[in-house]
Amino acid sequence: MKILGIETTCDETSAGVVKDSRLVLSNIISSQAKLHNKYGGIVPEIASRKHLEVLPIVAHEALLQAKTHIDDIDTFAVSKEPGLPPALSVGYAYASGLALANKKPLVEVNHLESHISGIWIYKNKKNKKKIPYPYICLLVSGGHTQIRLVTNSINQRIIGQTLDDAAGEAFDKIARLLNLSYPGGPEIERVSKEGDENTINFPRPMIKSDDFNFSFSGLKSAVKREFEKLNKFNIKYKNNKTLYKEINHNFICDIGASFQEAITDVLVFKTIKAANTLGINTITIAGGVSVNSRLREKLARACHEEEFSFYYPETEFCLDNAAMVAARGAELIKN
Ligand code: KG4
Ligand code: ZN
Repeated sequence: MKILGIETTCDETSAGVVKDSRLVLSNIISSQAKLHNKYGGIVPEIASRKHLEVLPIVAHEALLQAKTHIDDIDTFAVSKEPGLPPALSVGYAYASGLALANKKPLVEVNHLESHISGIWIYKNKKNKKKIPYPYICLLVSGGHTQIRLVTNSINQRIIGQTLDDAAGEAFDKIARLLNLSYPGGPEIERVSKEGDENTINFPRPMIKSDDFNFSFSGLKSAVKREFEKLNKFNIKYKNNKTLYKEINHNFICDIGASFQEAITDVLVFKTIKAANTLGINTITIAGGVSVNSRLREKLARACHEEEFSFYYPETEFCLDNAAMVAARGAELIKN
């Protein structure tokens, strides 16, 4: 079975073809990040107009790369929710049109569930993996942060989630505060490599709470306070441009690294705690923030210590992409 997936929930326009629910024949992603950069975040109206412009080209390219004719597509899959409503409606209208014109079914897919399908899809057979059920998934994206218990290919239960900002959103907001570009996650990760994560001991919010929930707004305020304090200190060097720039750069790297350390500590601690409490010994990670190498490294180490198995998606399938949407569509149809 071949499925063509369409993804337009946020600022990535994507189309991809998946065969037999796991093998990715193509996954074309056109990112709008540069377009939204100057606004420091996503402008929904600009996102939807760009989707409208590039989606037919992206879908055409996905078929070409998969060496597949549209007549050979058995089913169409599309992200229905959650996402930016104007952006979602472009993808939904396009996928509905394709299904109707080609007299094939259309499967509506939940975007968050599809992120979890991103863990086990592959382009190259050597990356094929079979994850045993049940498992815990730390789902960390720009809009959501959840811990899910996945009991089979259909059932996923949310057992913990953020009470305010999502992890990706926190990365984006802190990056903006530090005058780094959008999206903020990769930027924070980049500057952190030059910084010292032990410079500032930021709070680890809710780490001791009895549940598996998160809250990042207090951490965000603590970073803001620290940045303002350091900025005040640096102002006296303003006349010495070279020194001012150097001090500023070091501040940003150290604050970025200390923030990344605090947020990843909480994410890892709560995920391990959920697995231990529920007696689950397989842990997975999904969503845009799962690209973060410090988070992966710490979670992998914690899983090793607990003798848990640990699985994560290939980088291409962490961020928003249509291959995961097609894969989720295939799972739903199979069941
Ligand atoms: O899953 P995703 O592509 O979109 C949503 O469904 O929201 O996630 C996007 C988020 C953004 O907030 C971005 O800053 C974050 O993922 N992100 C990262 C990294 N790469 C992307 N966060 C931390 N470290 C990264 N390397
Ligand atoms: Zn996403």
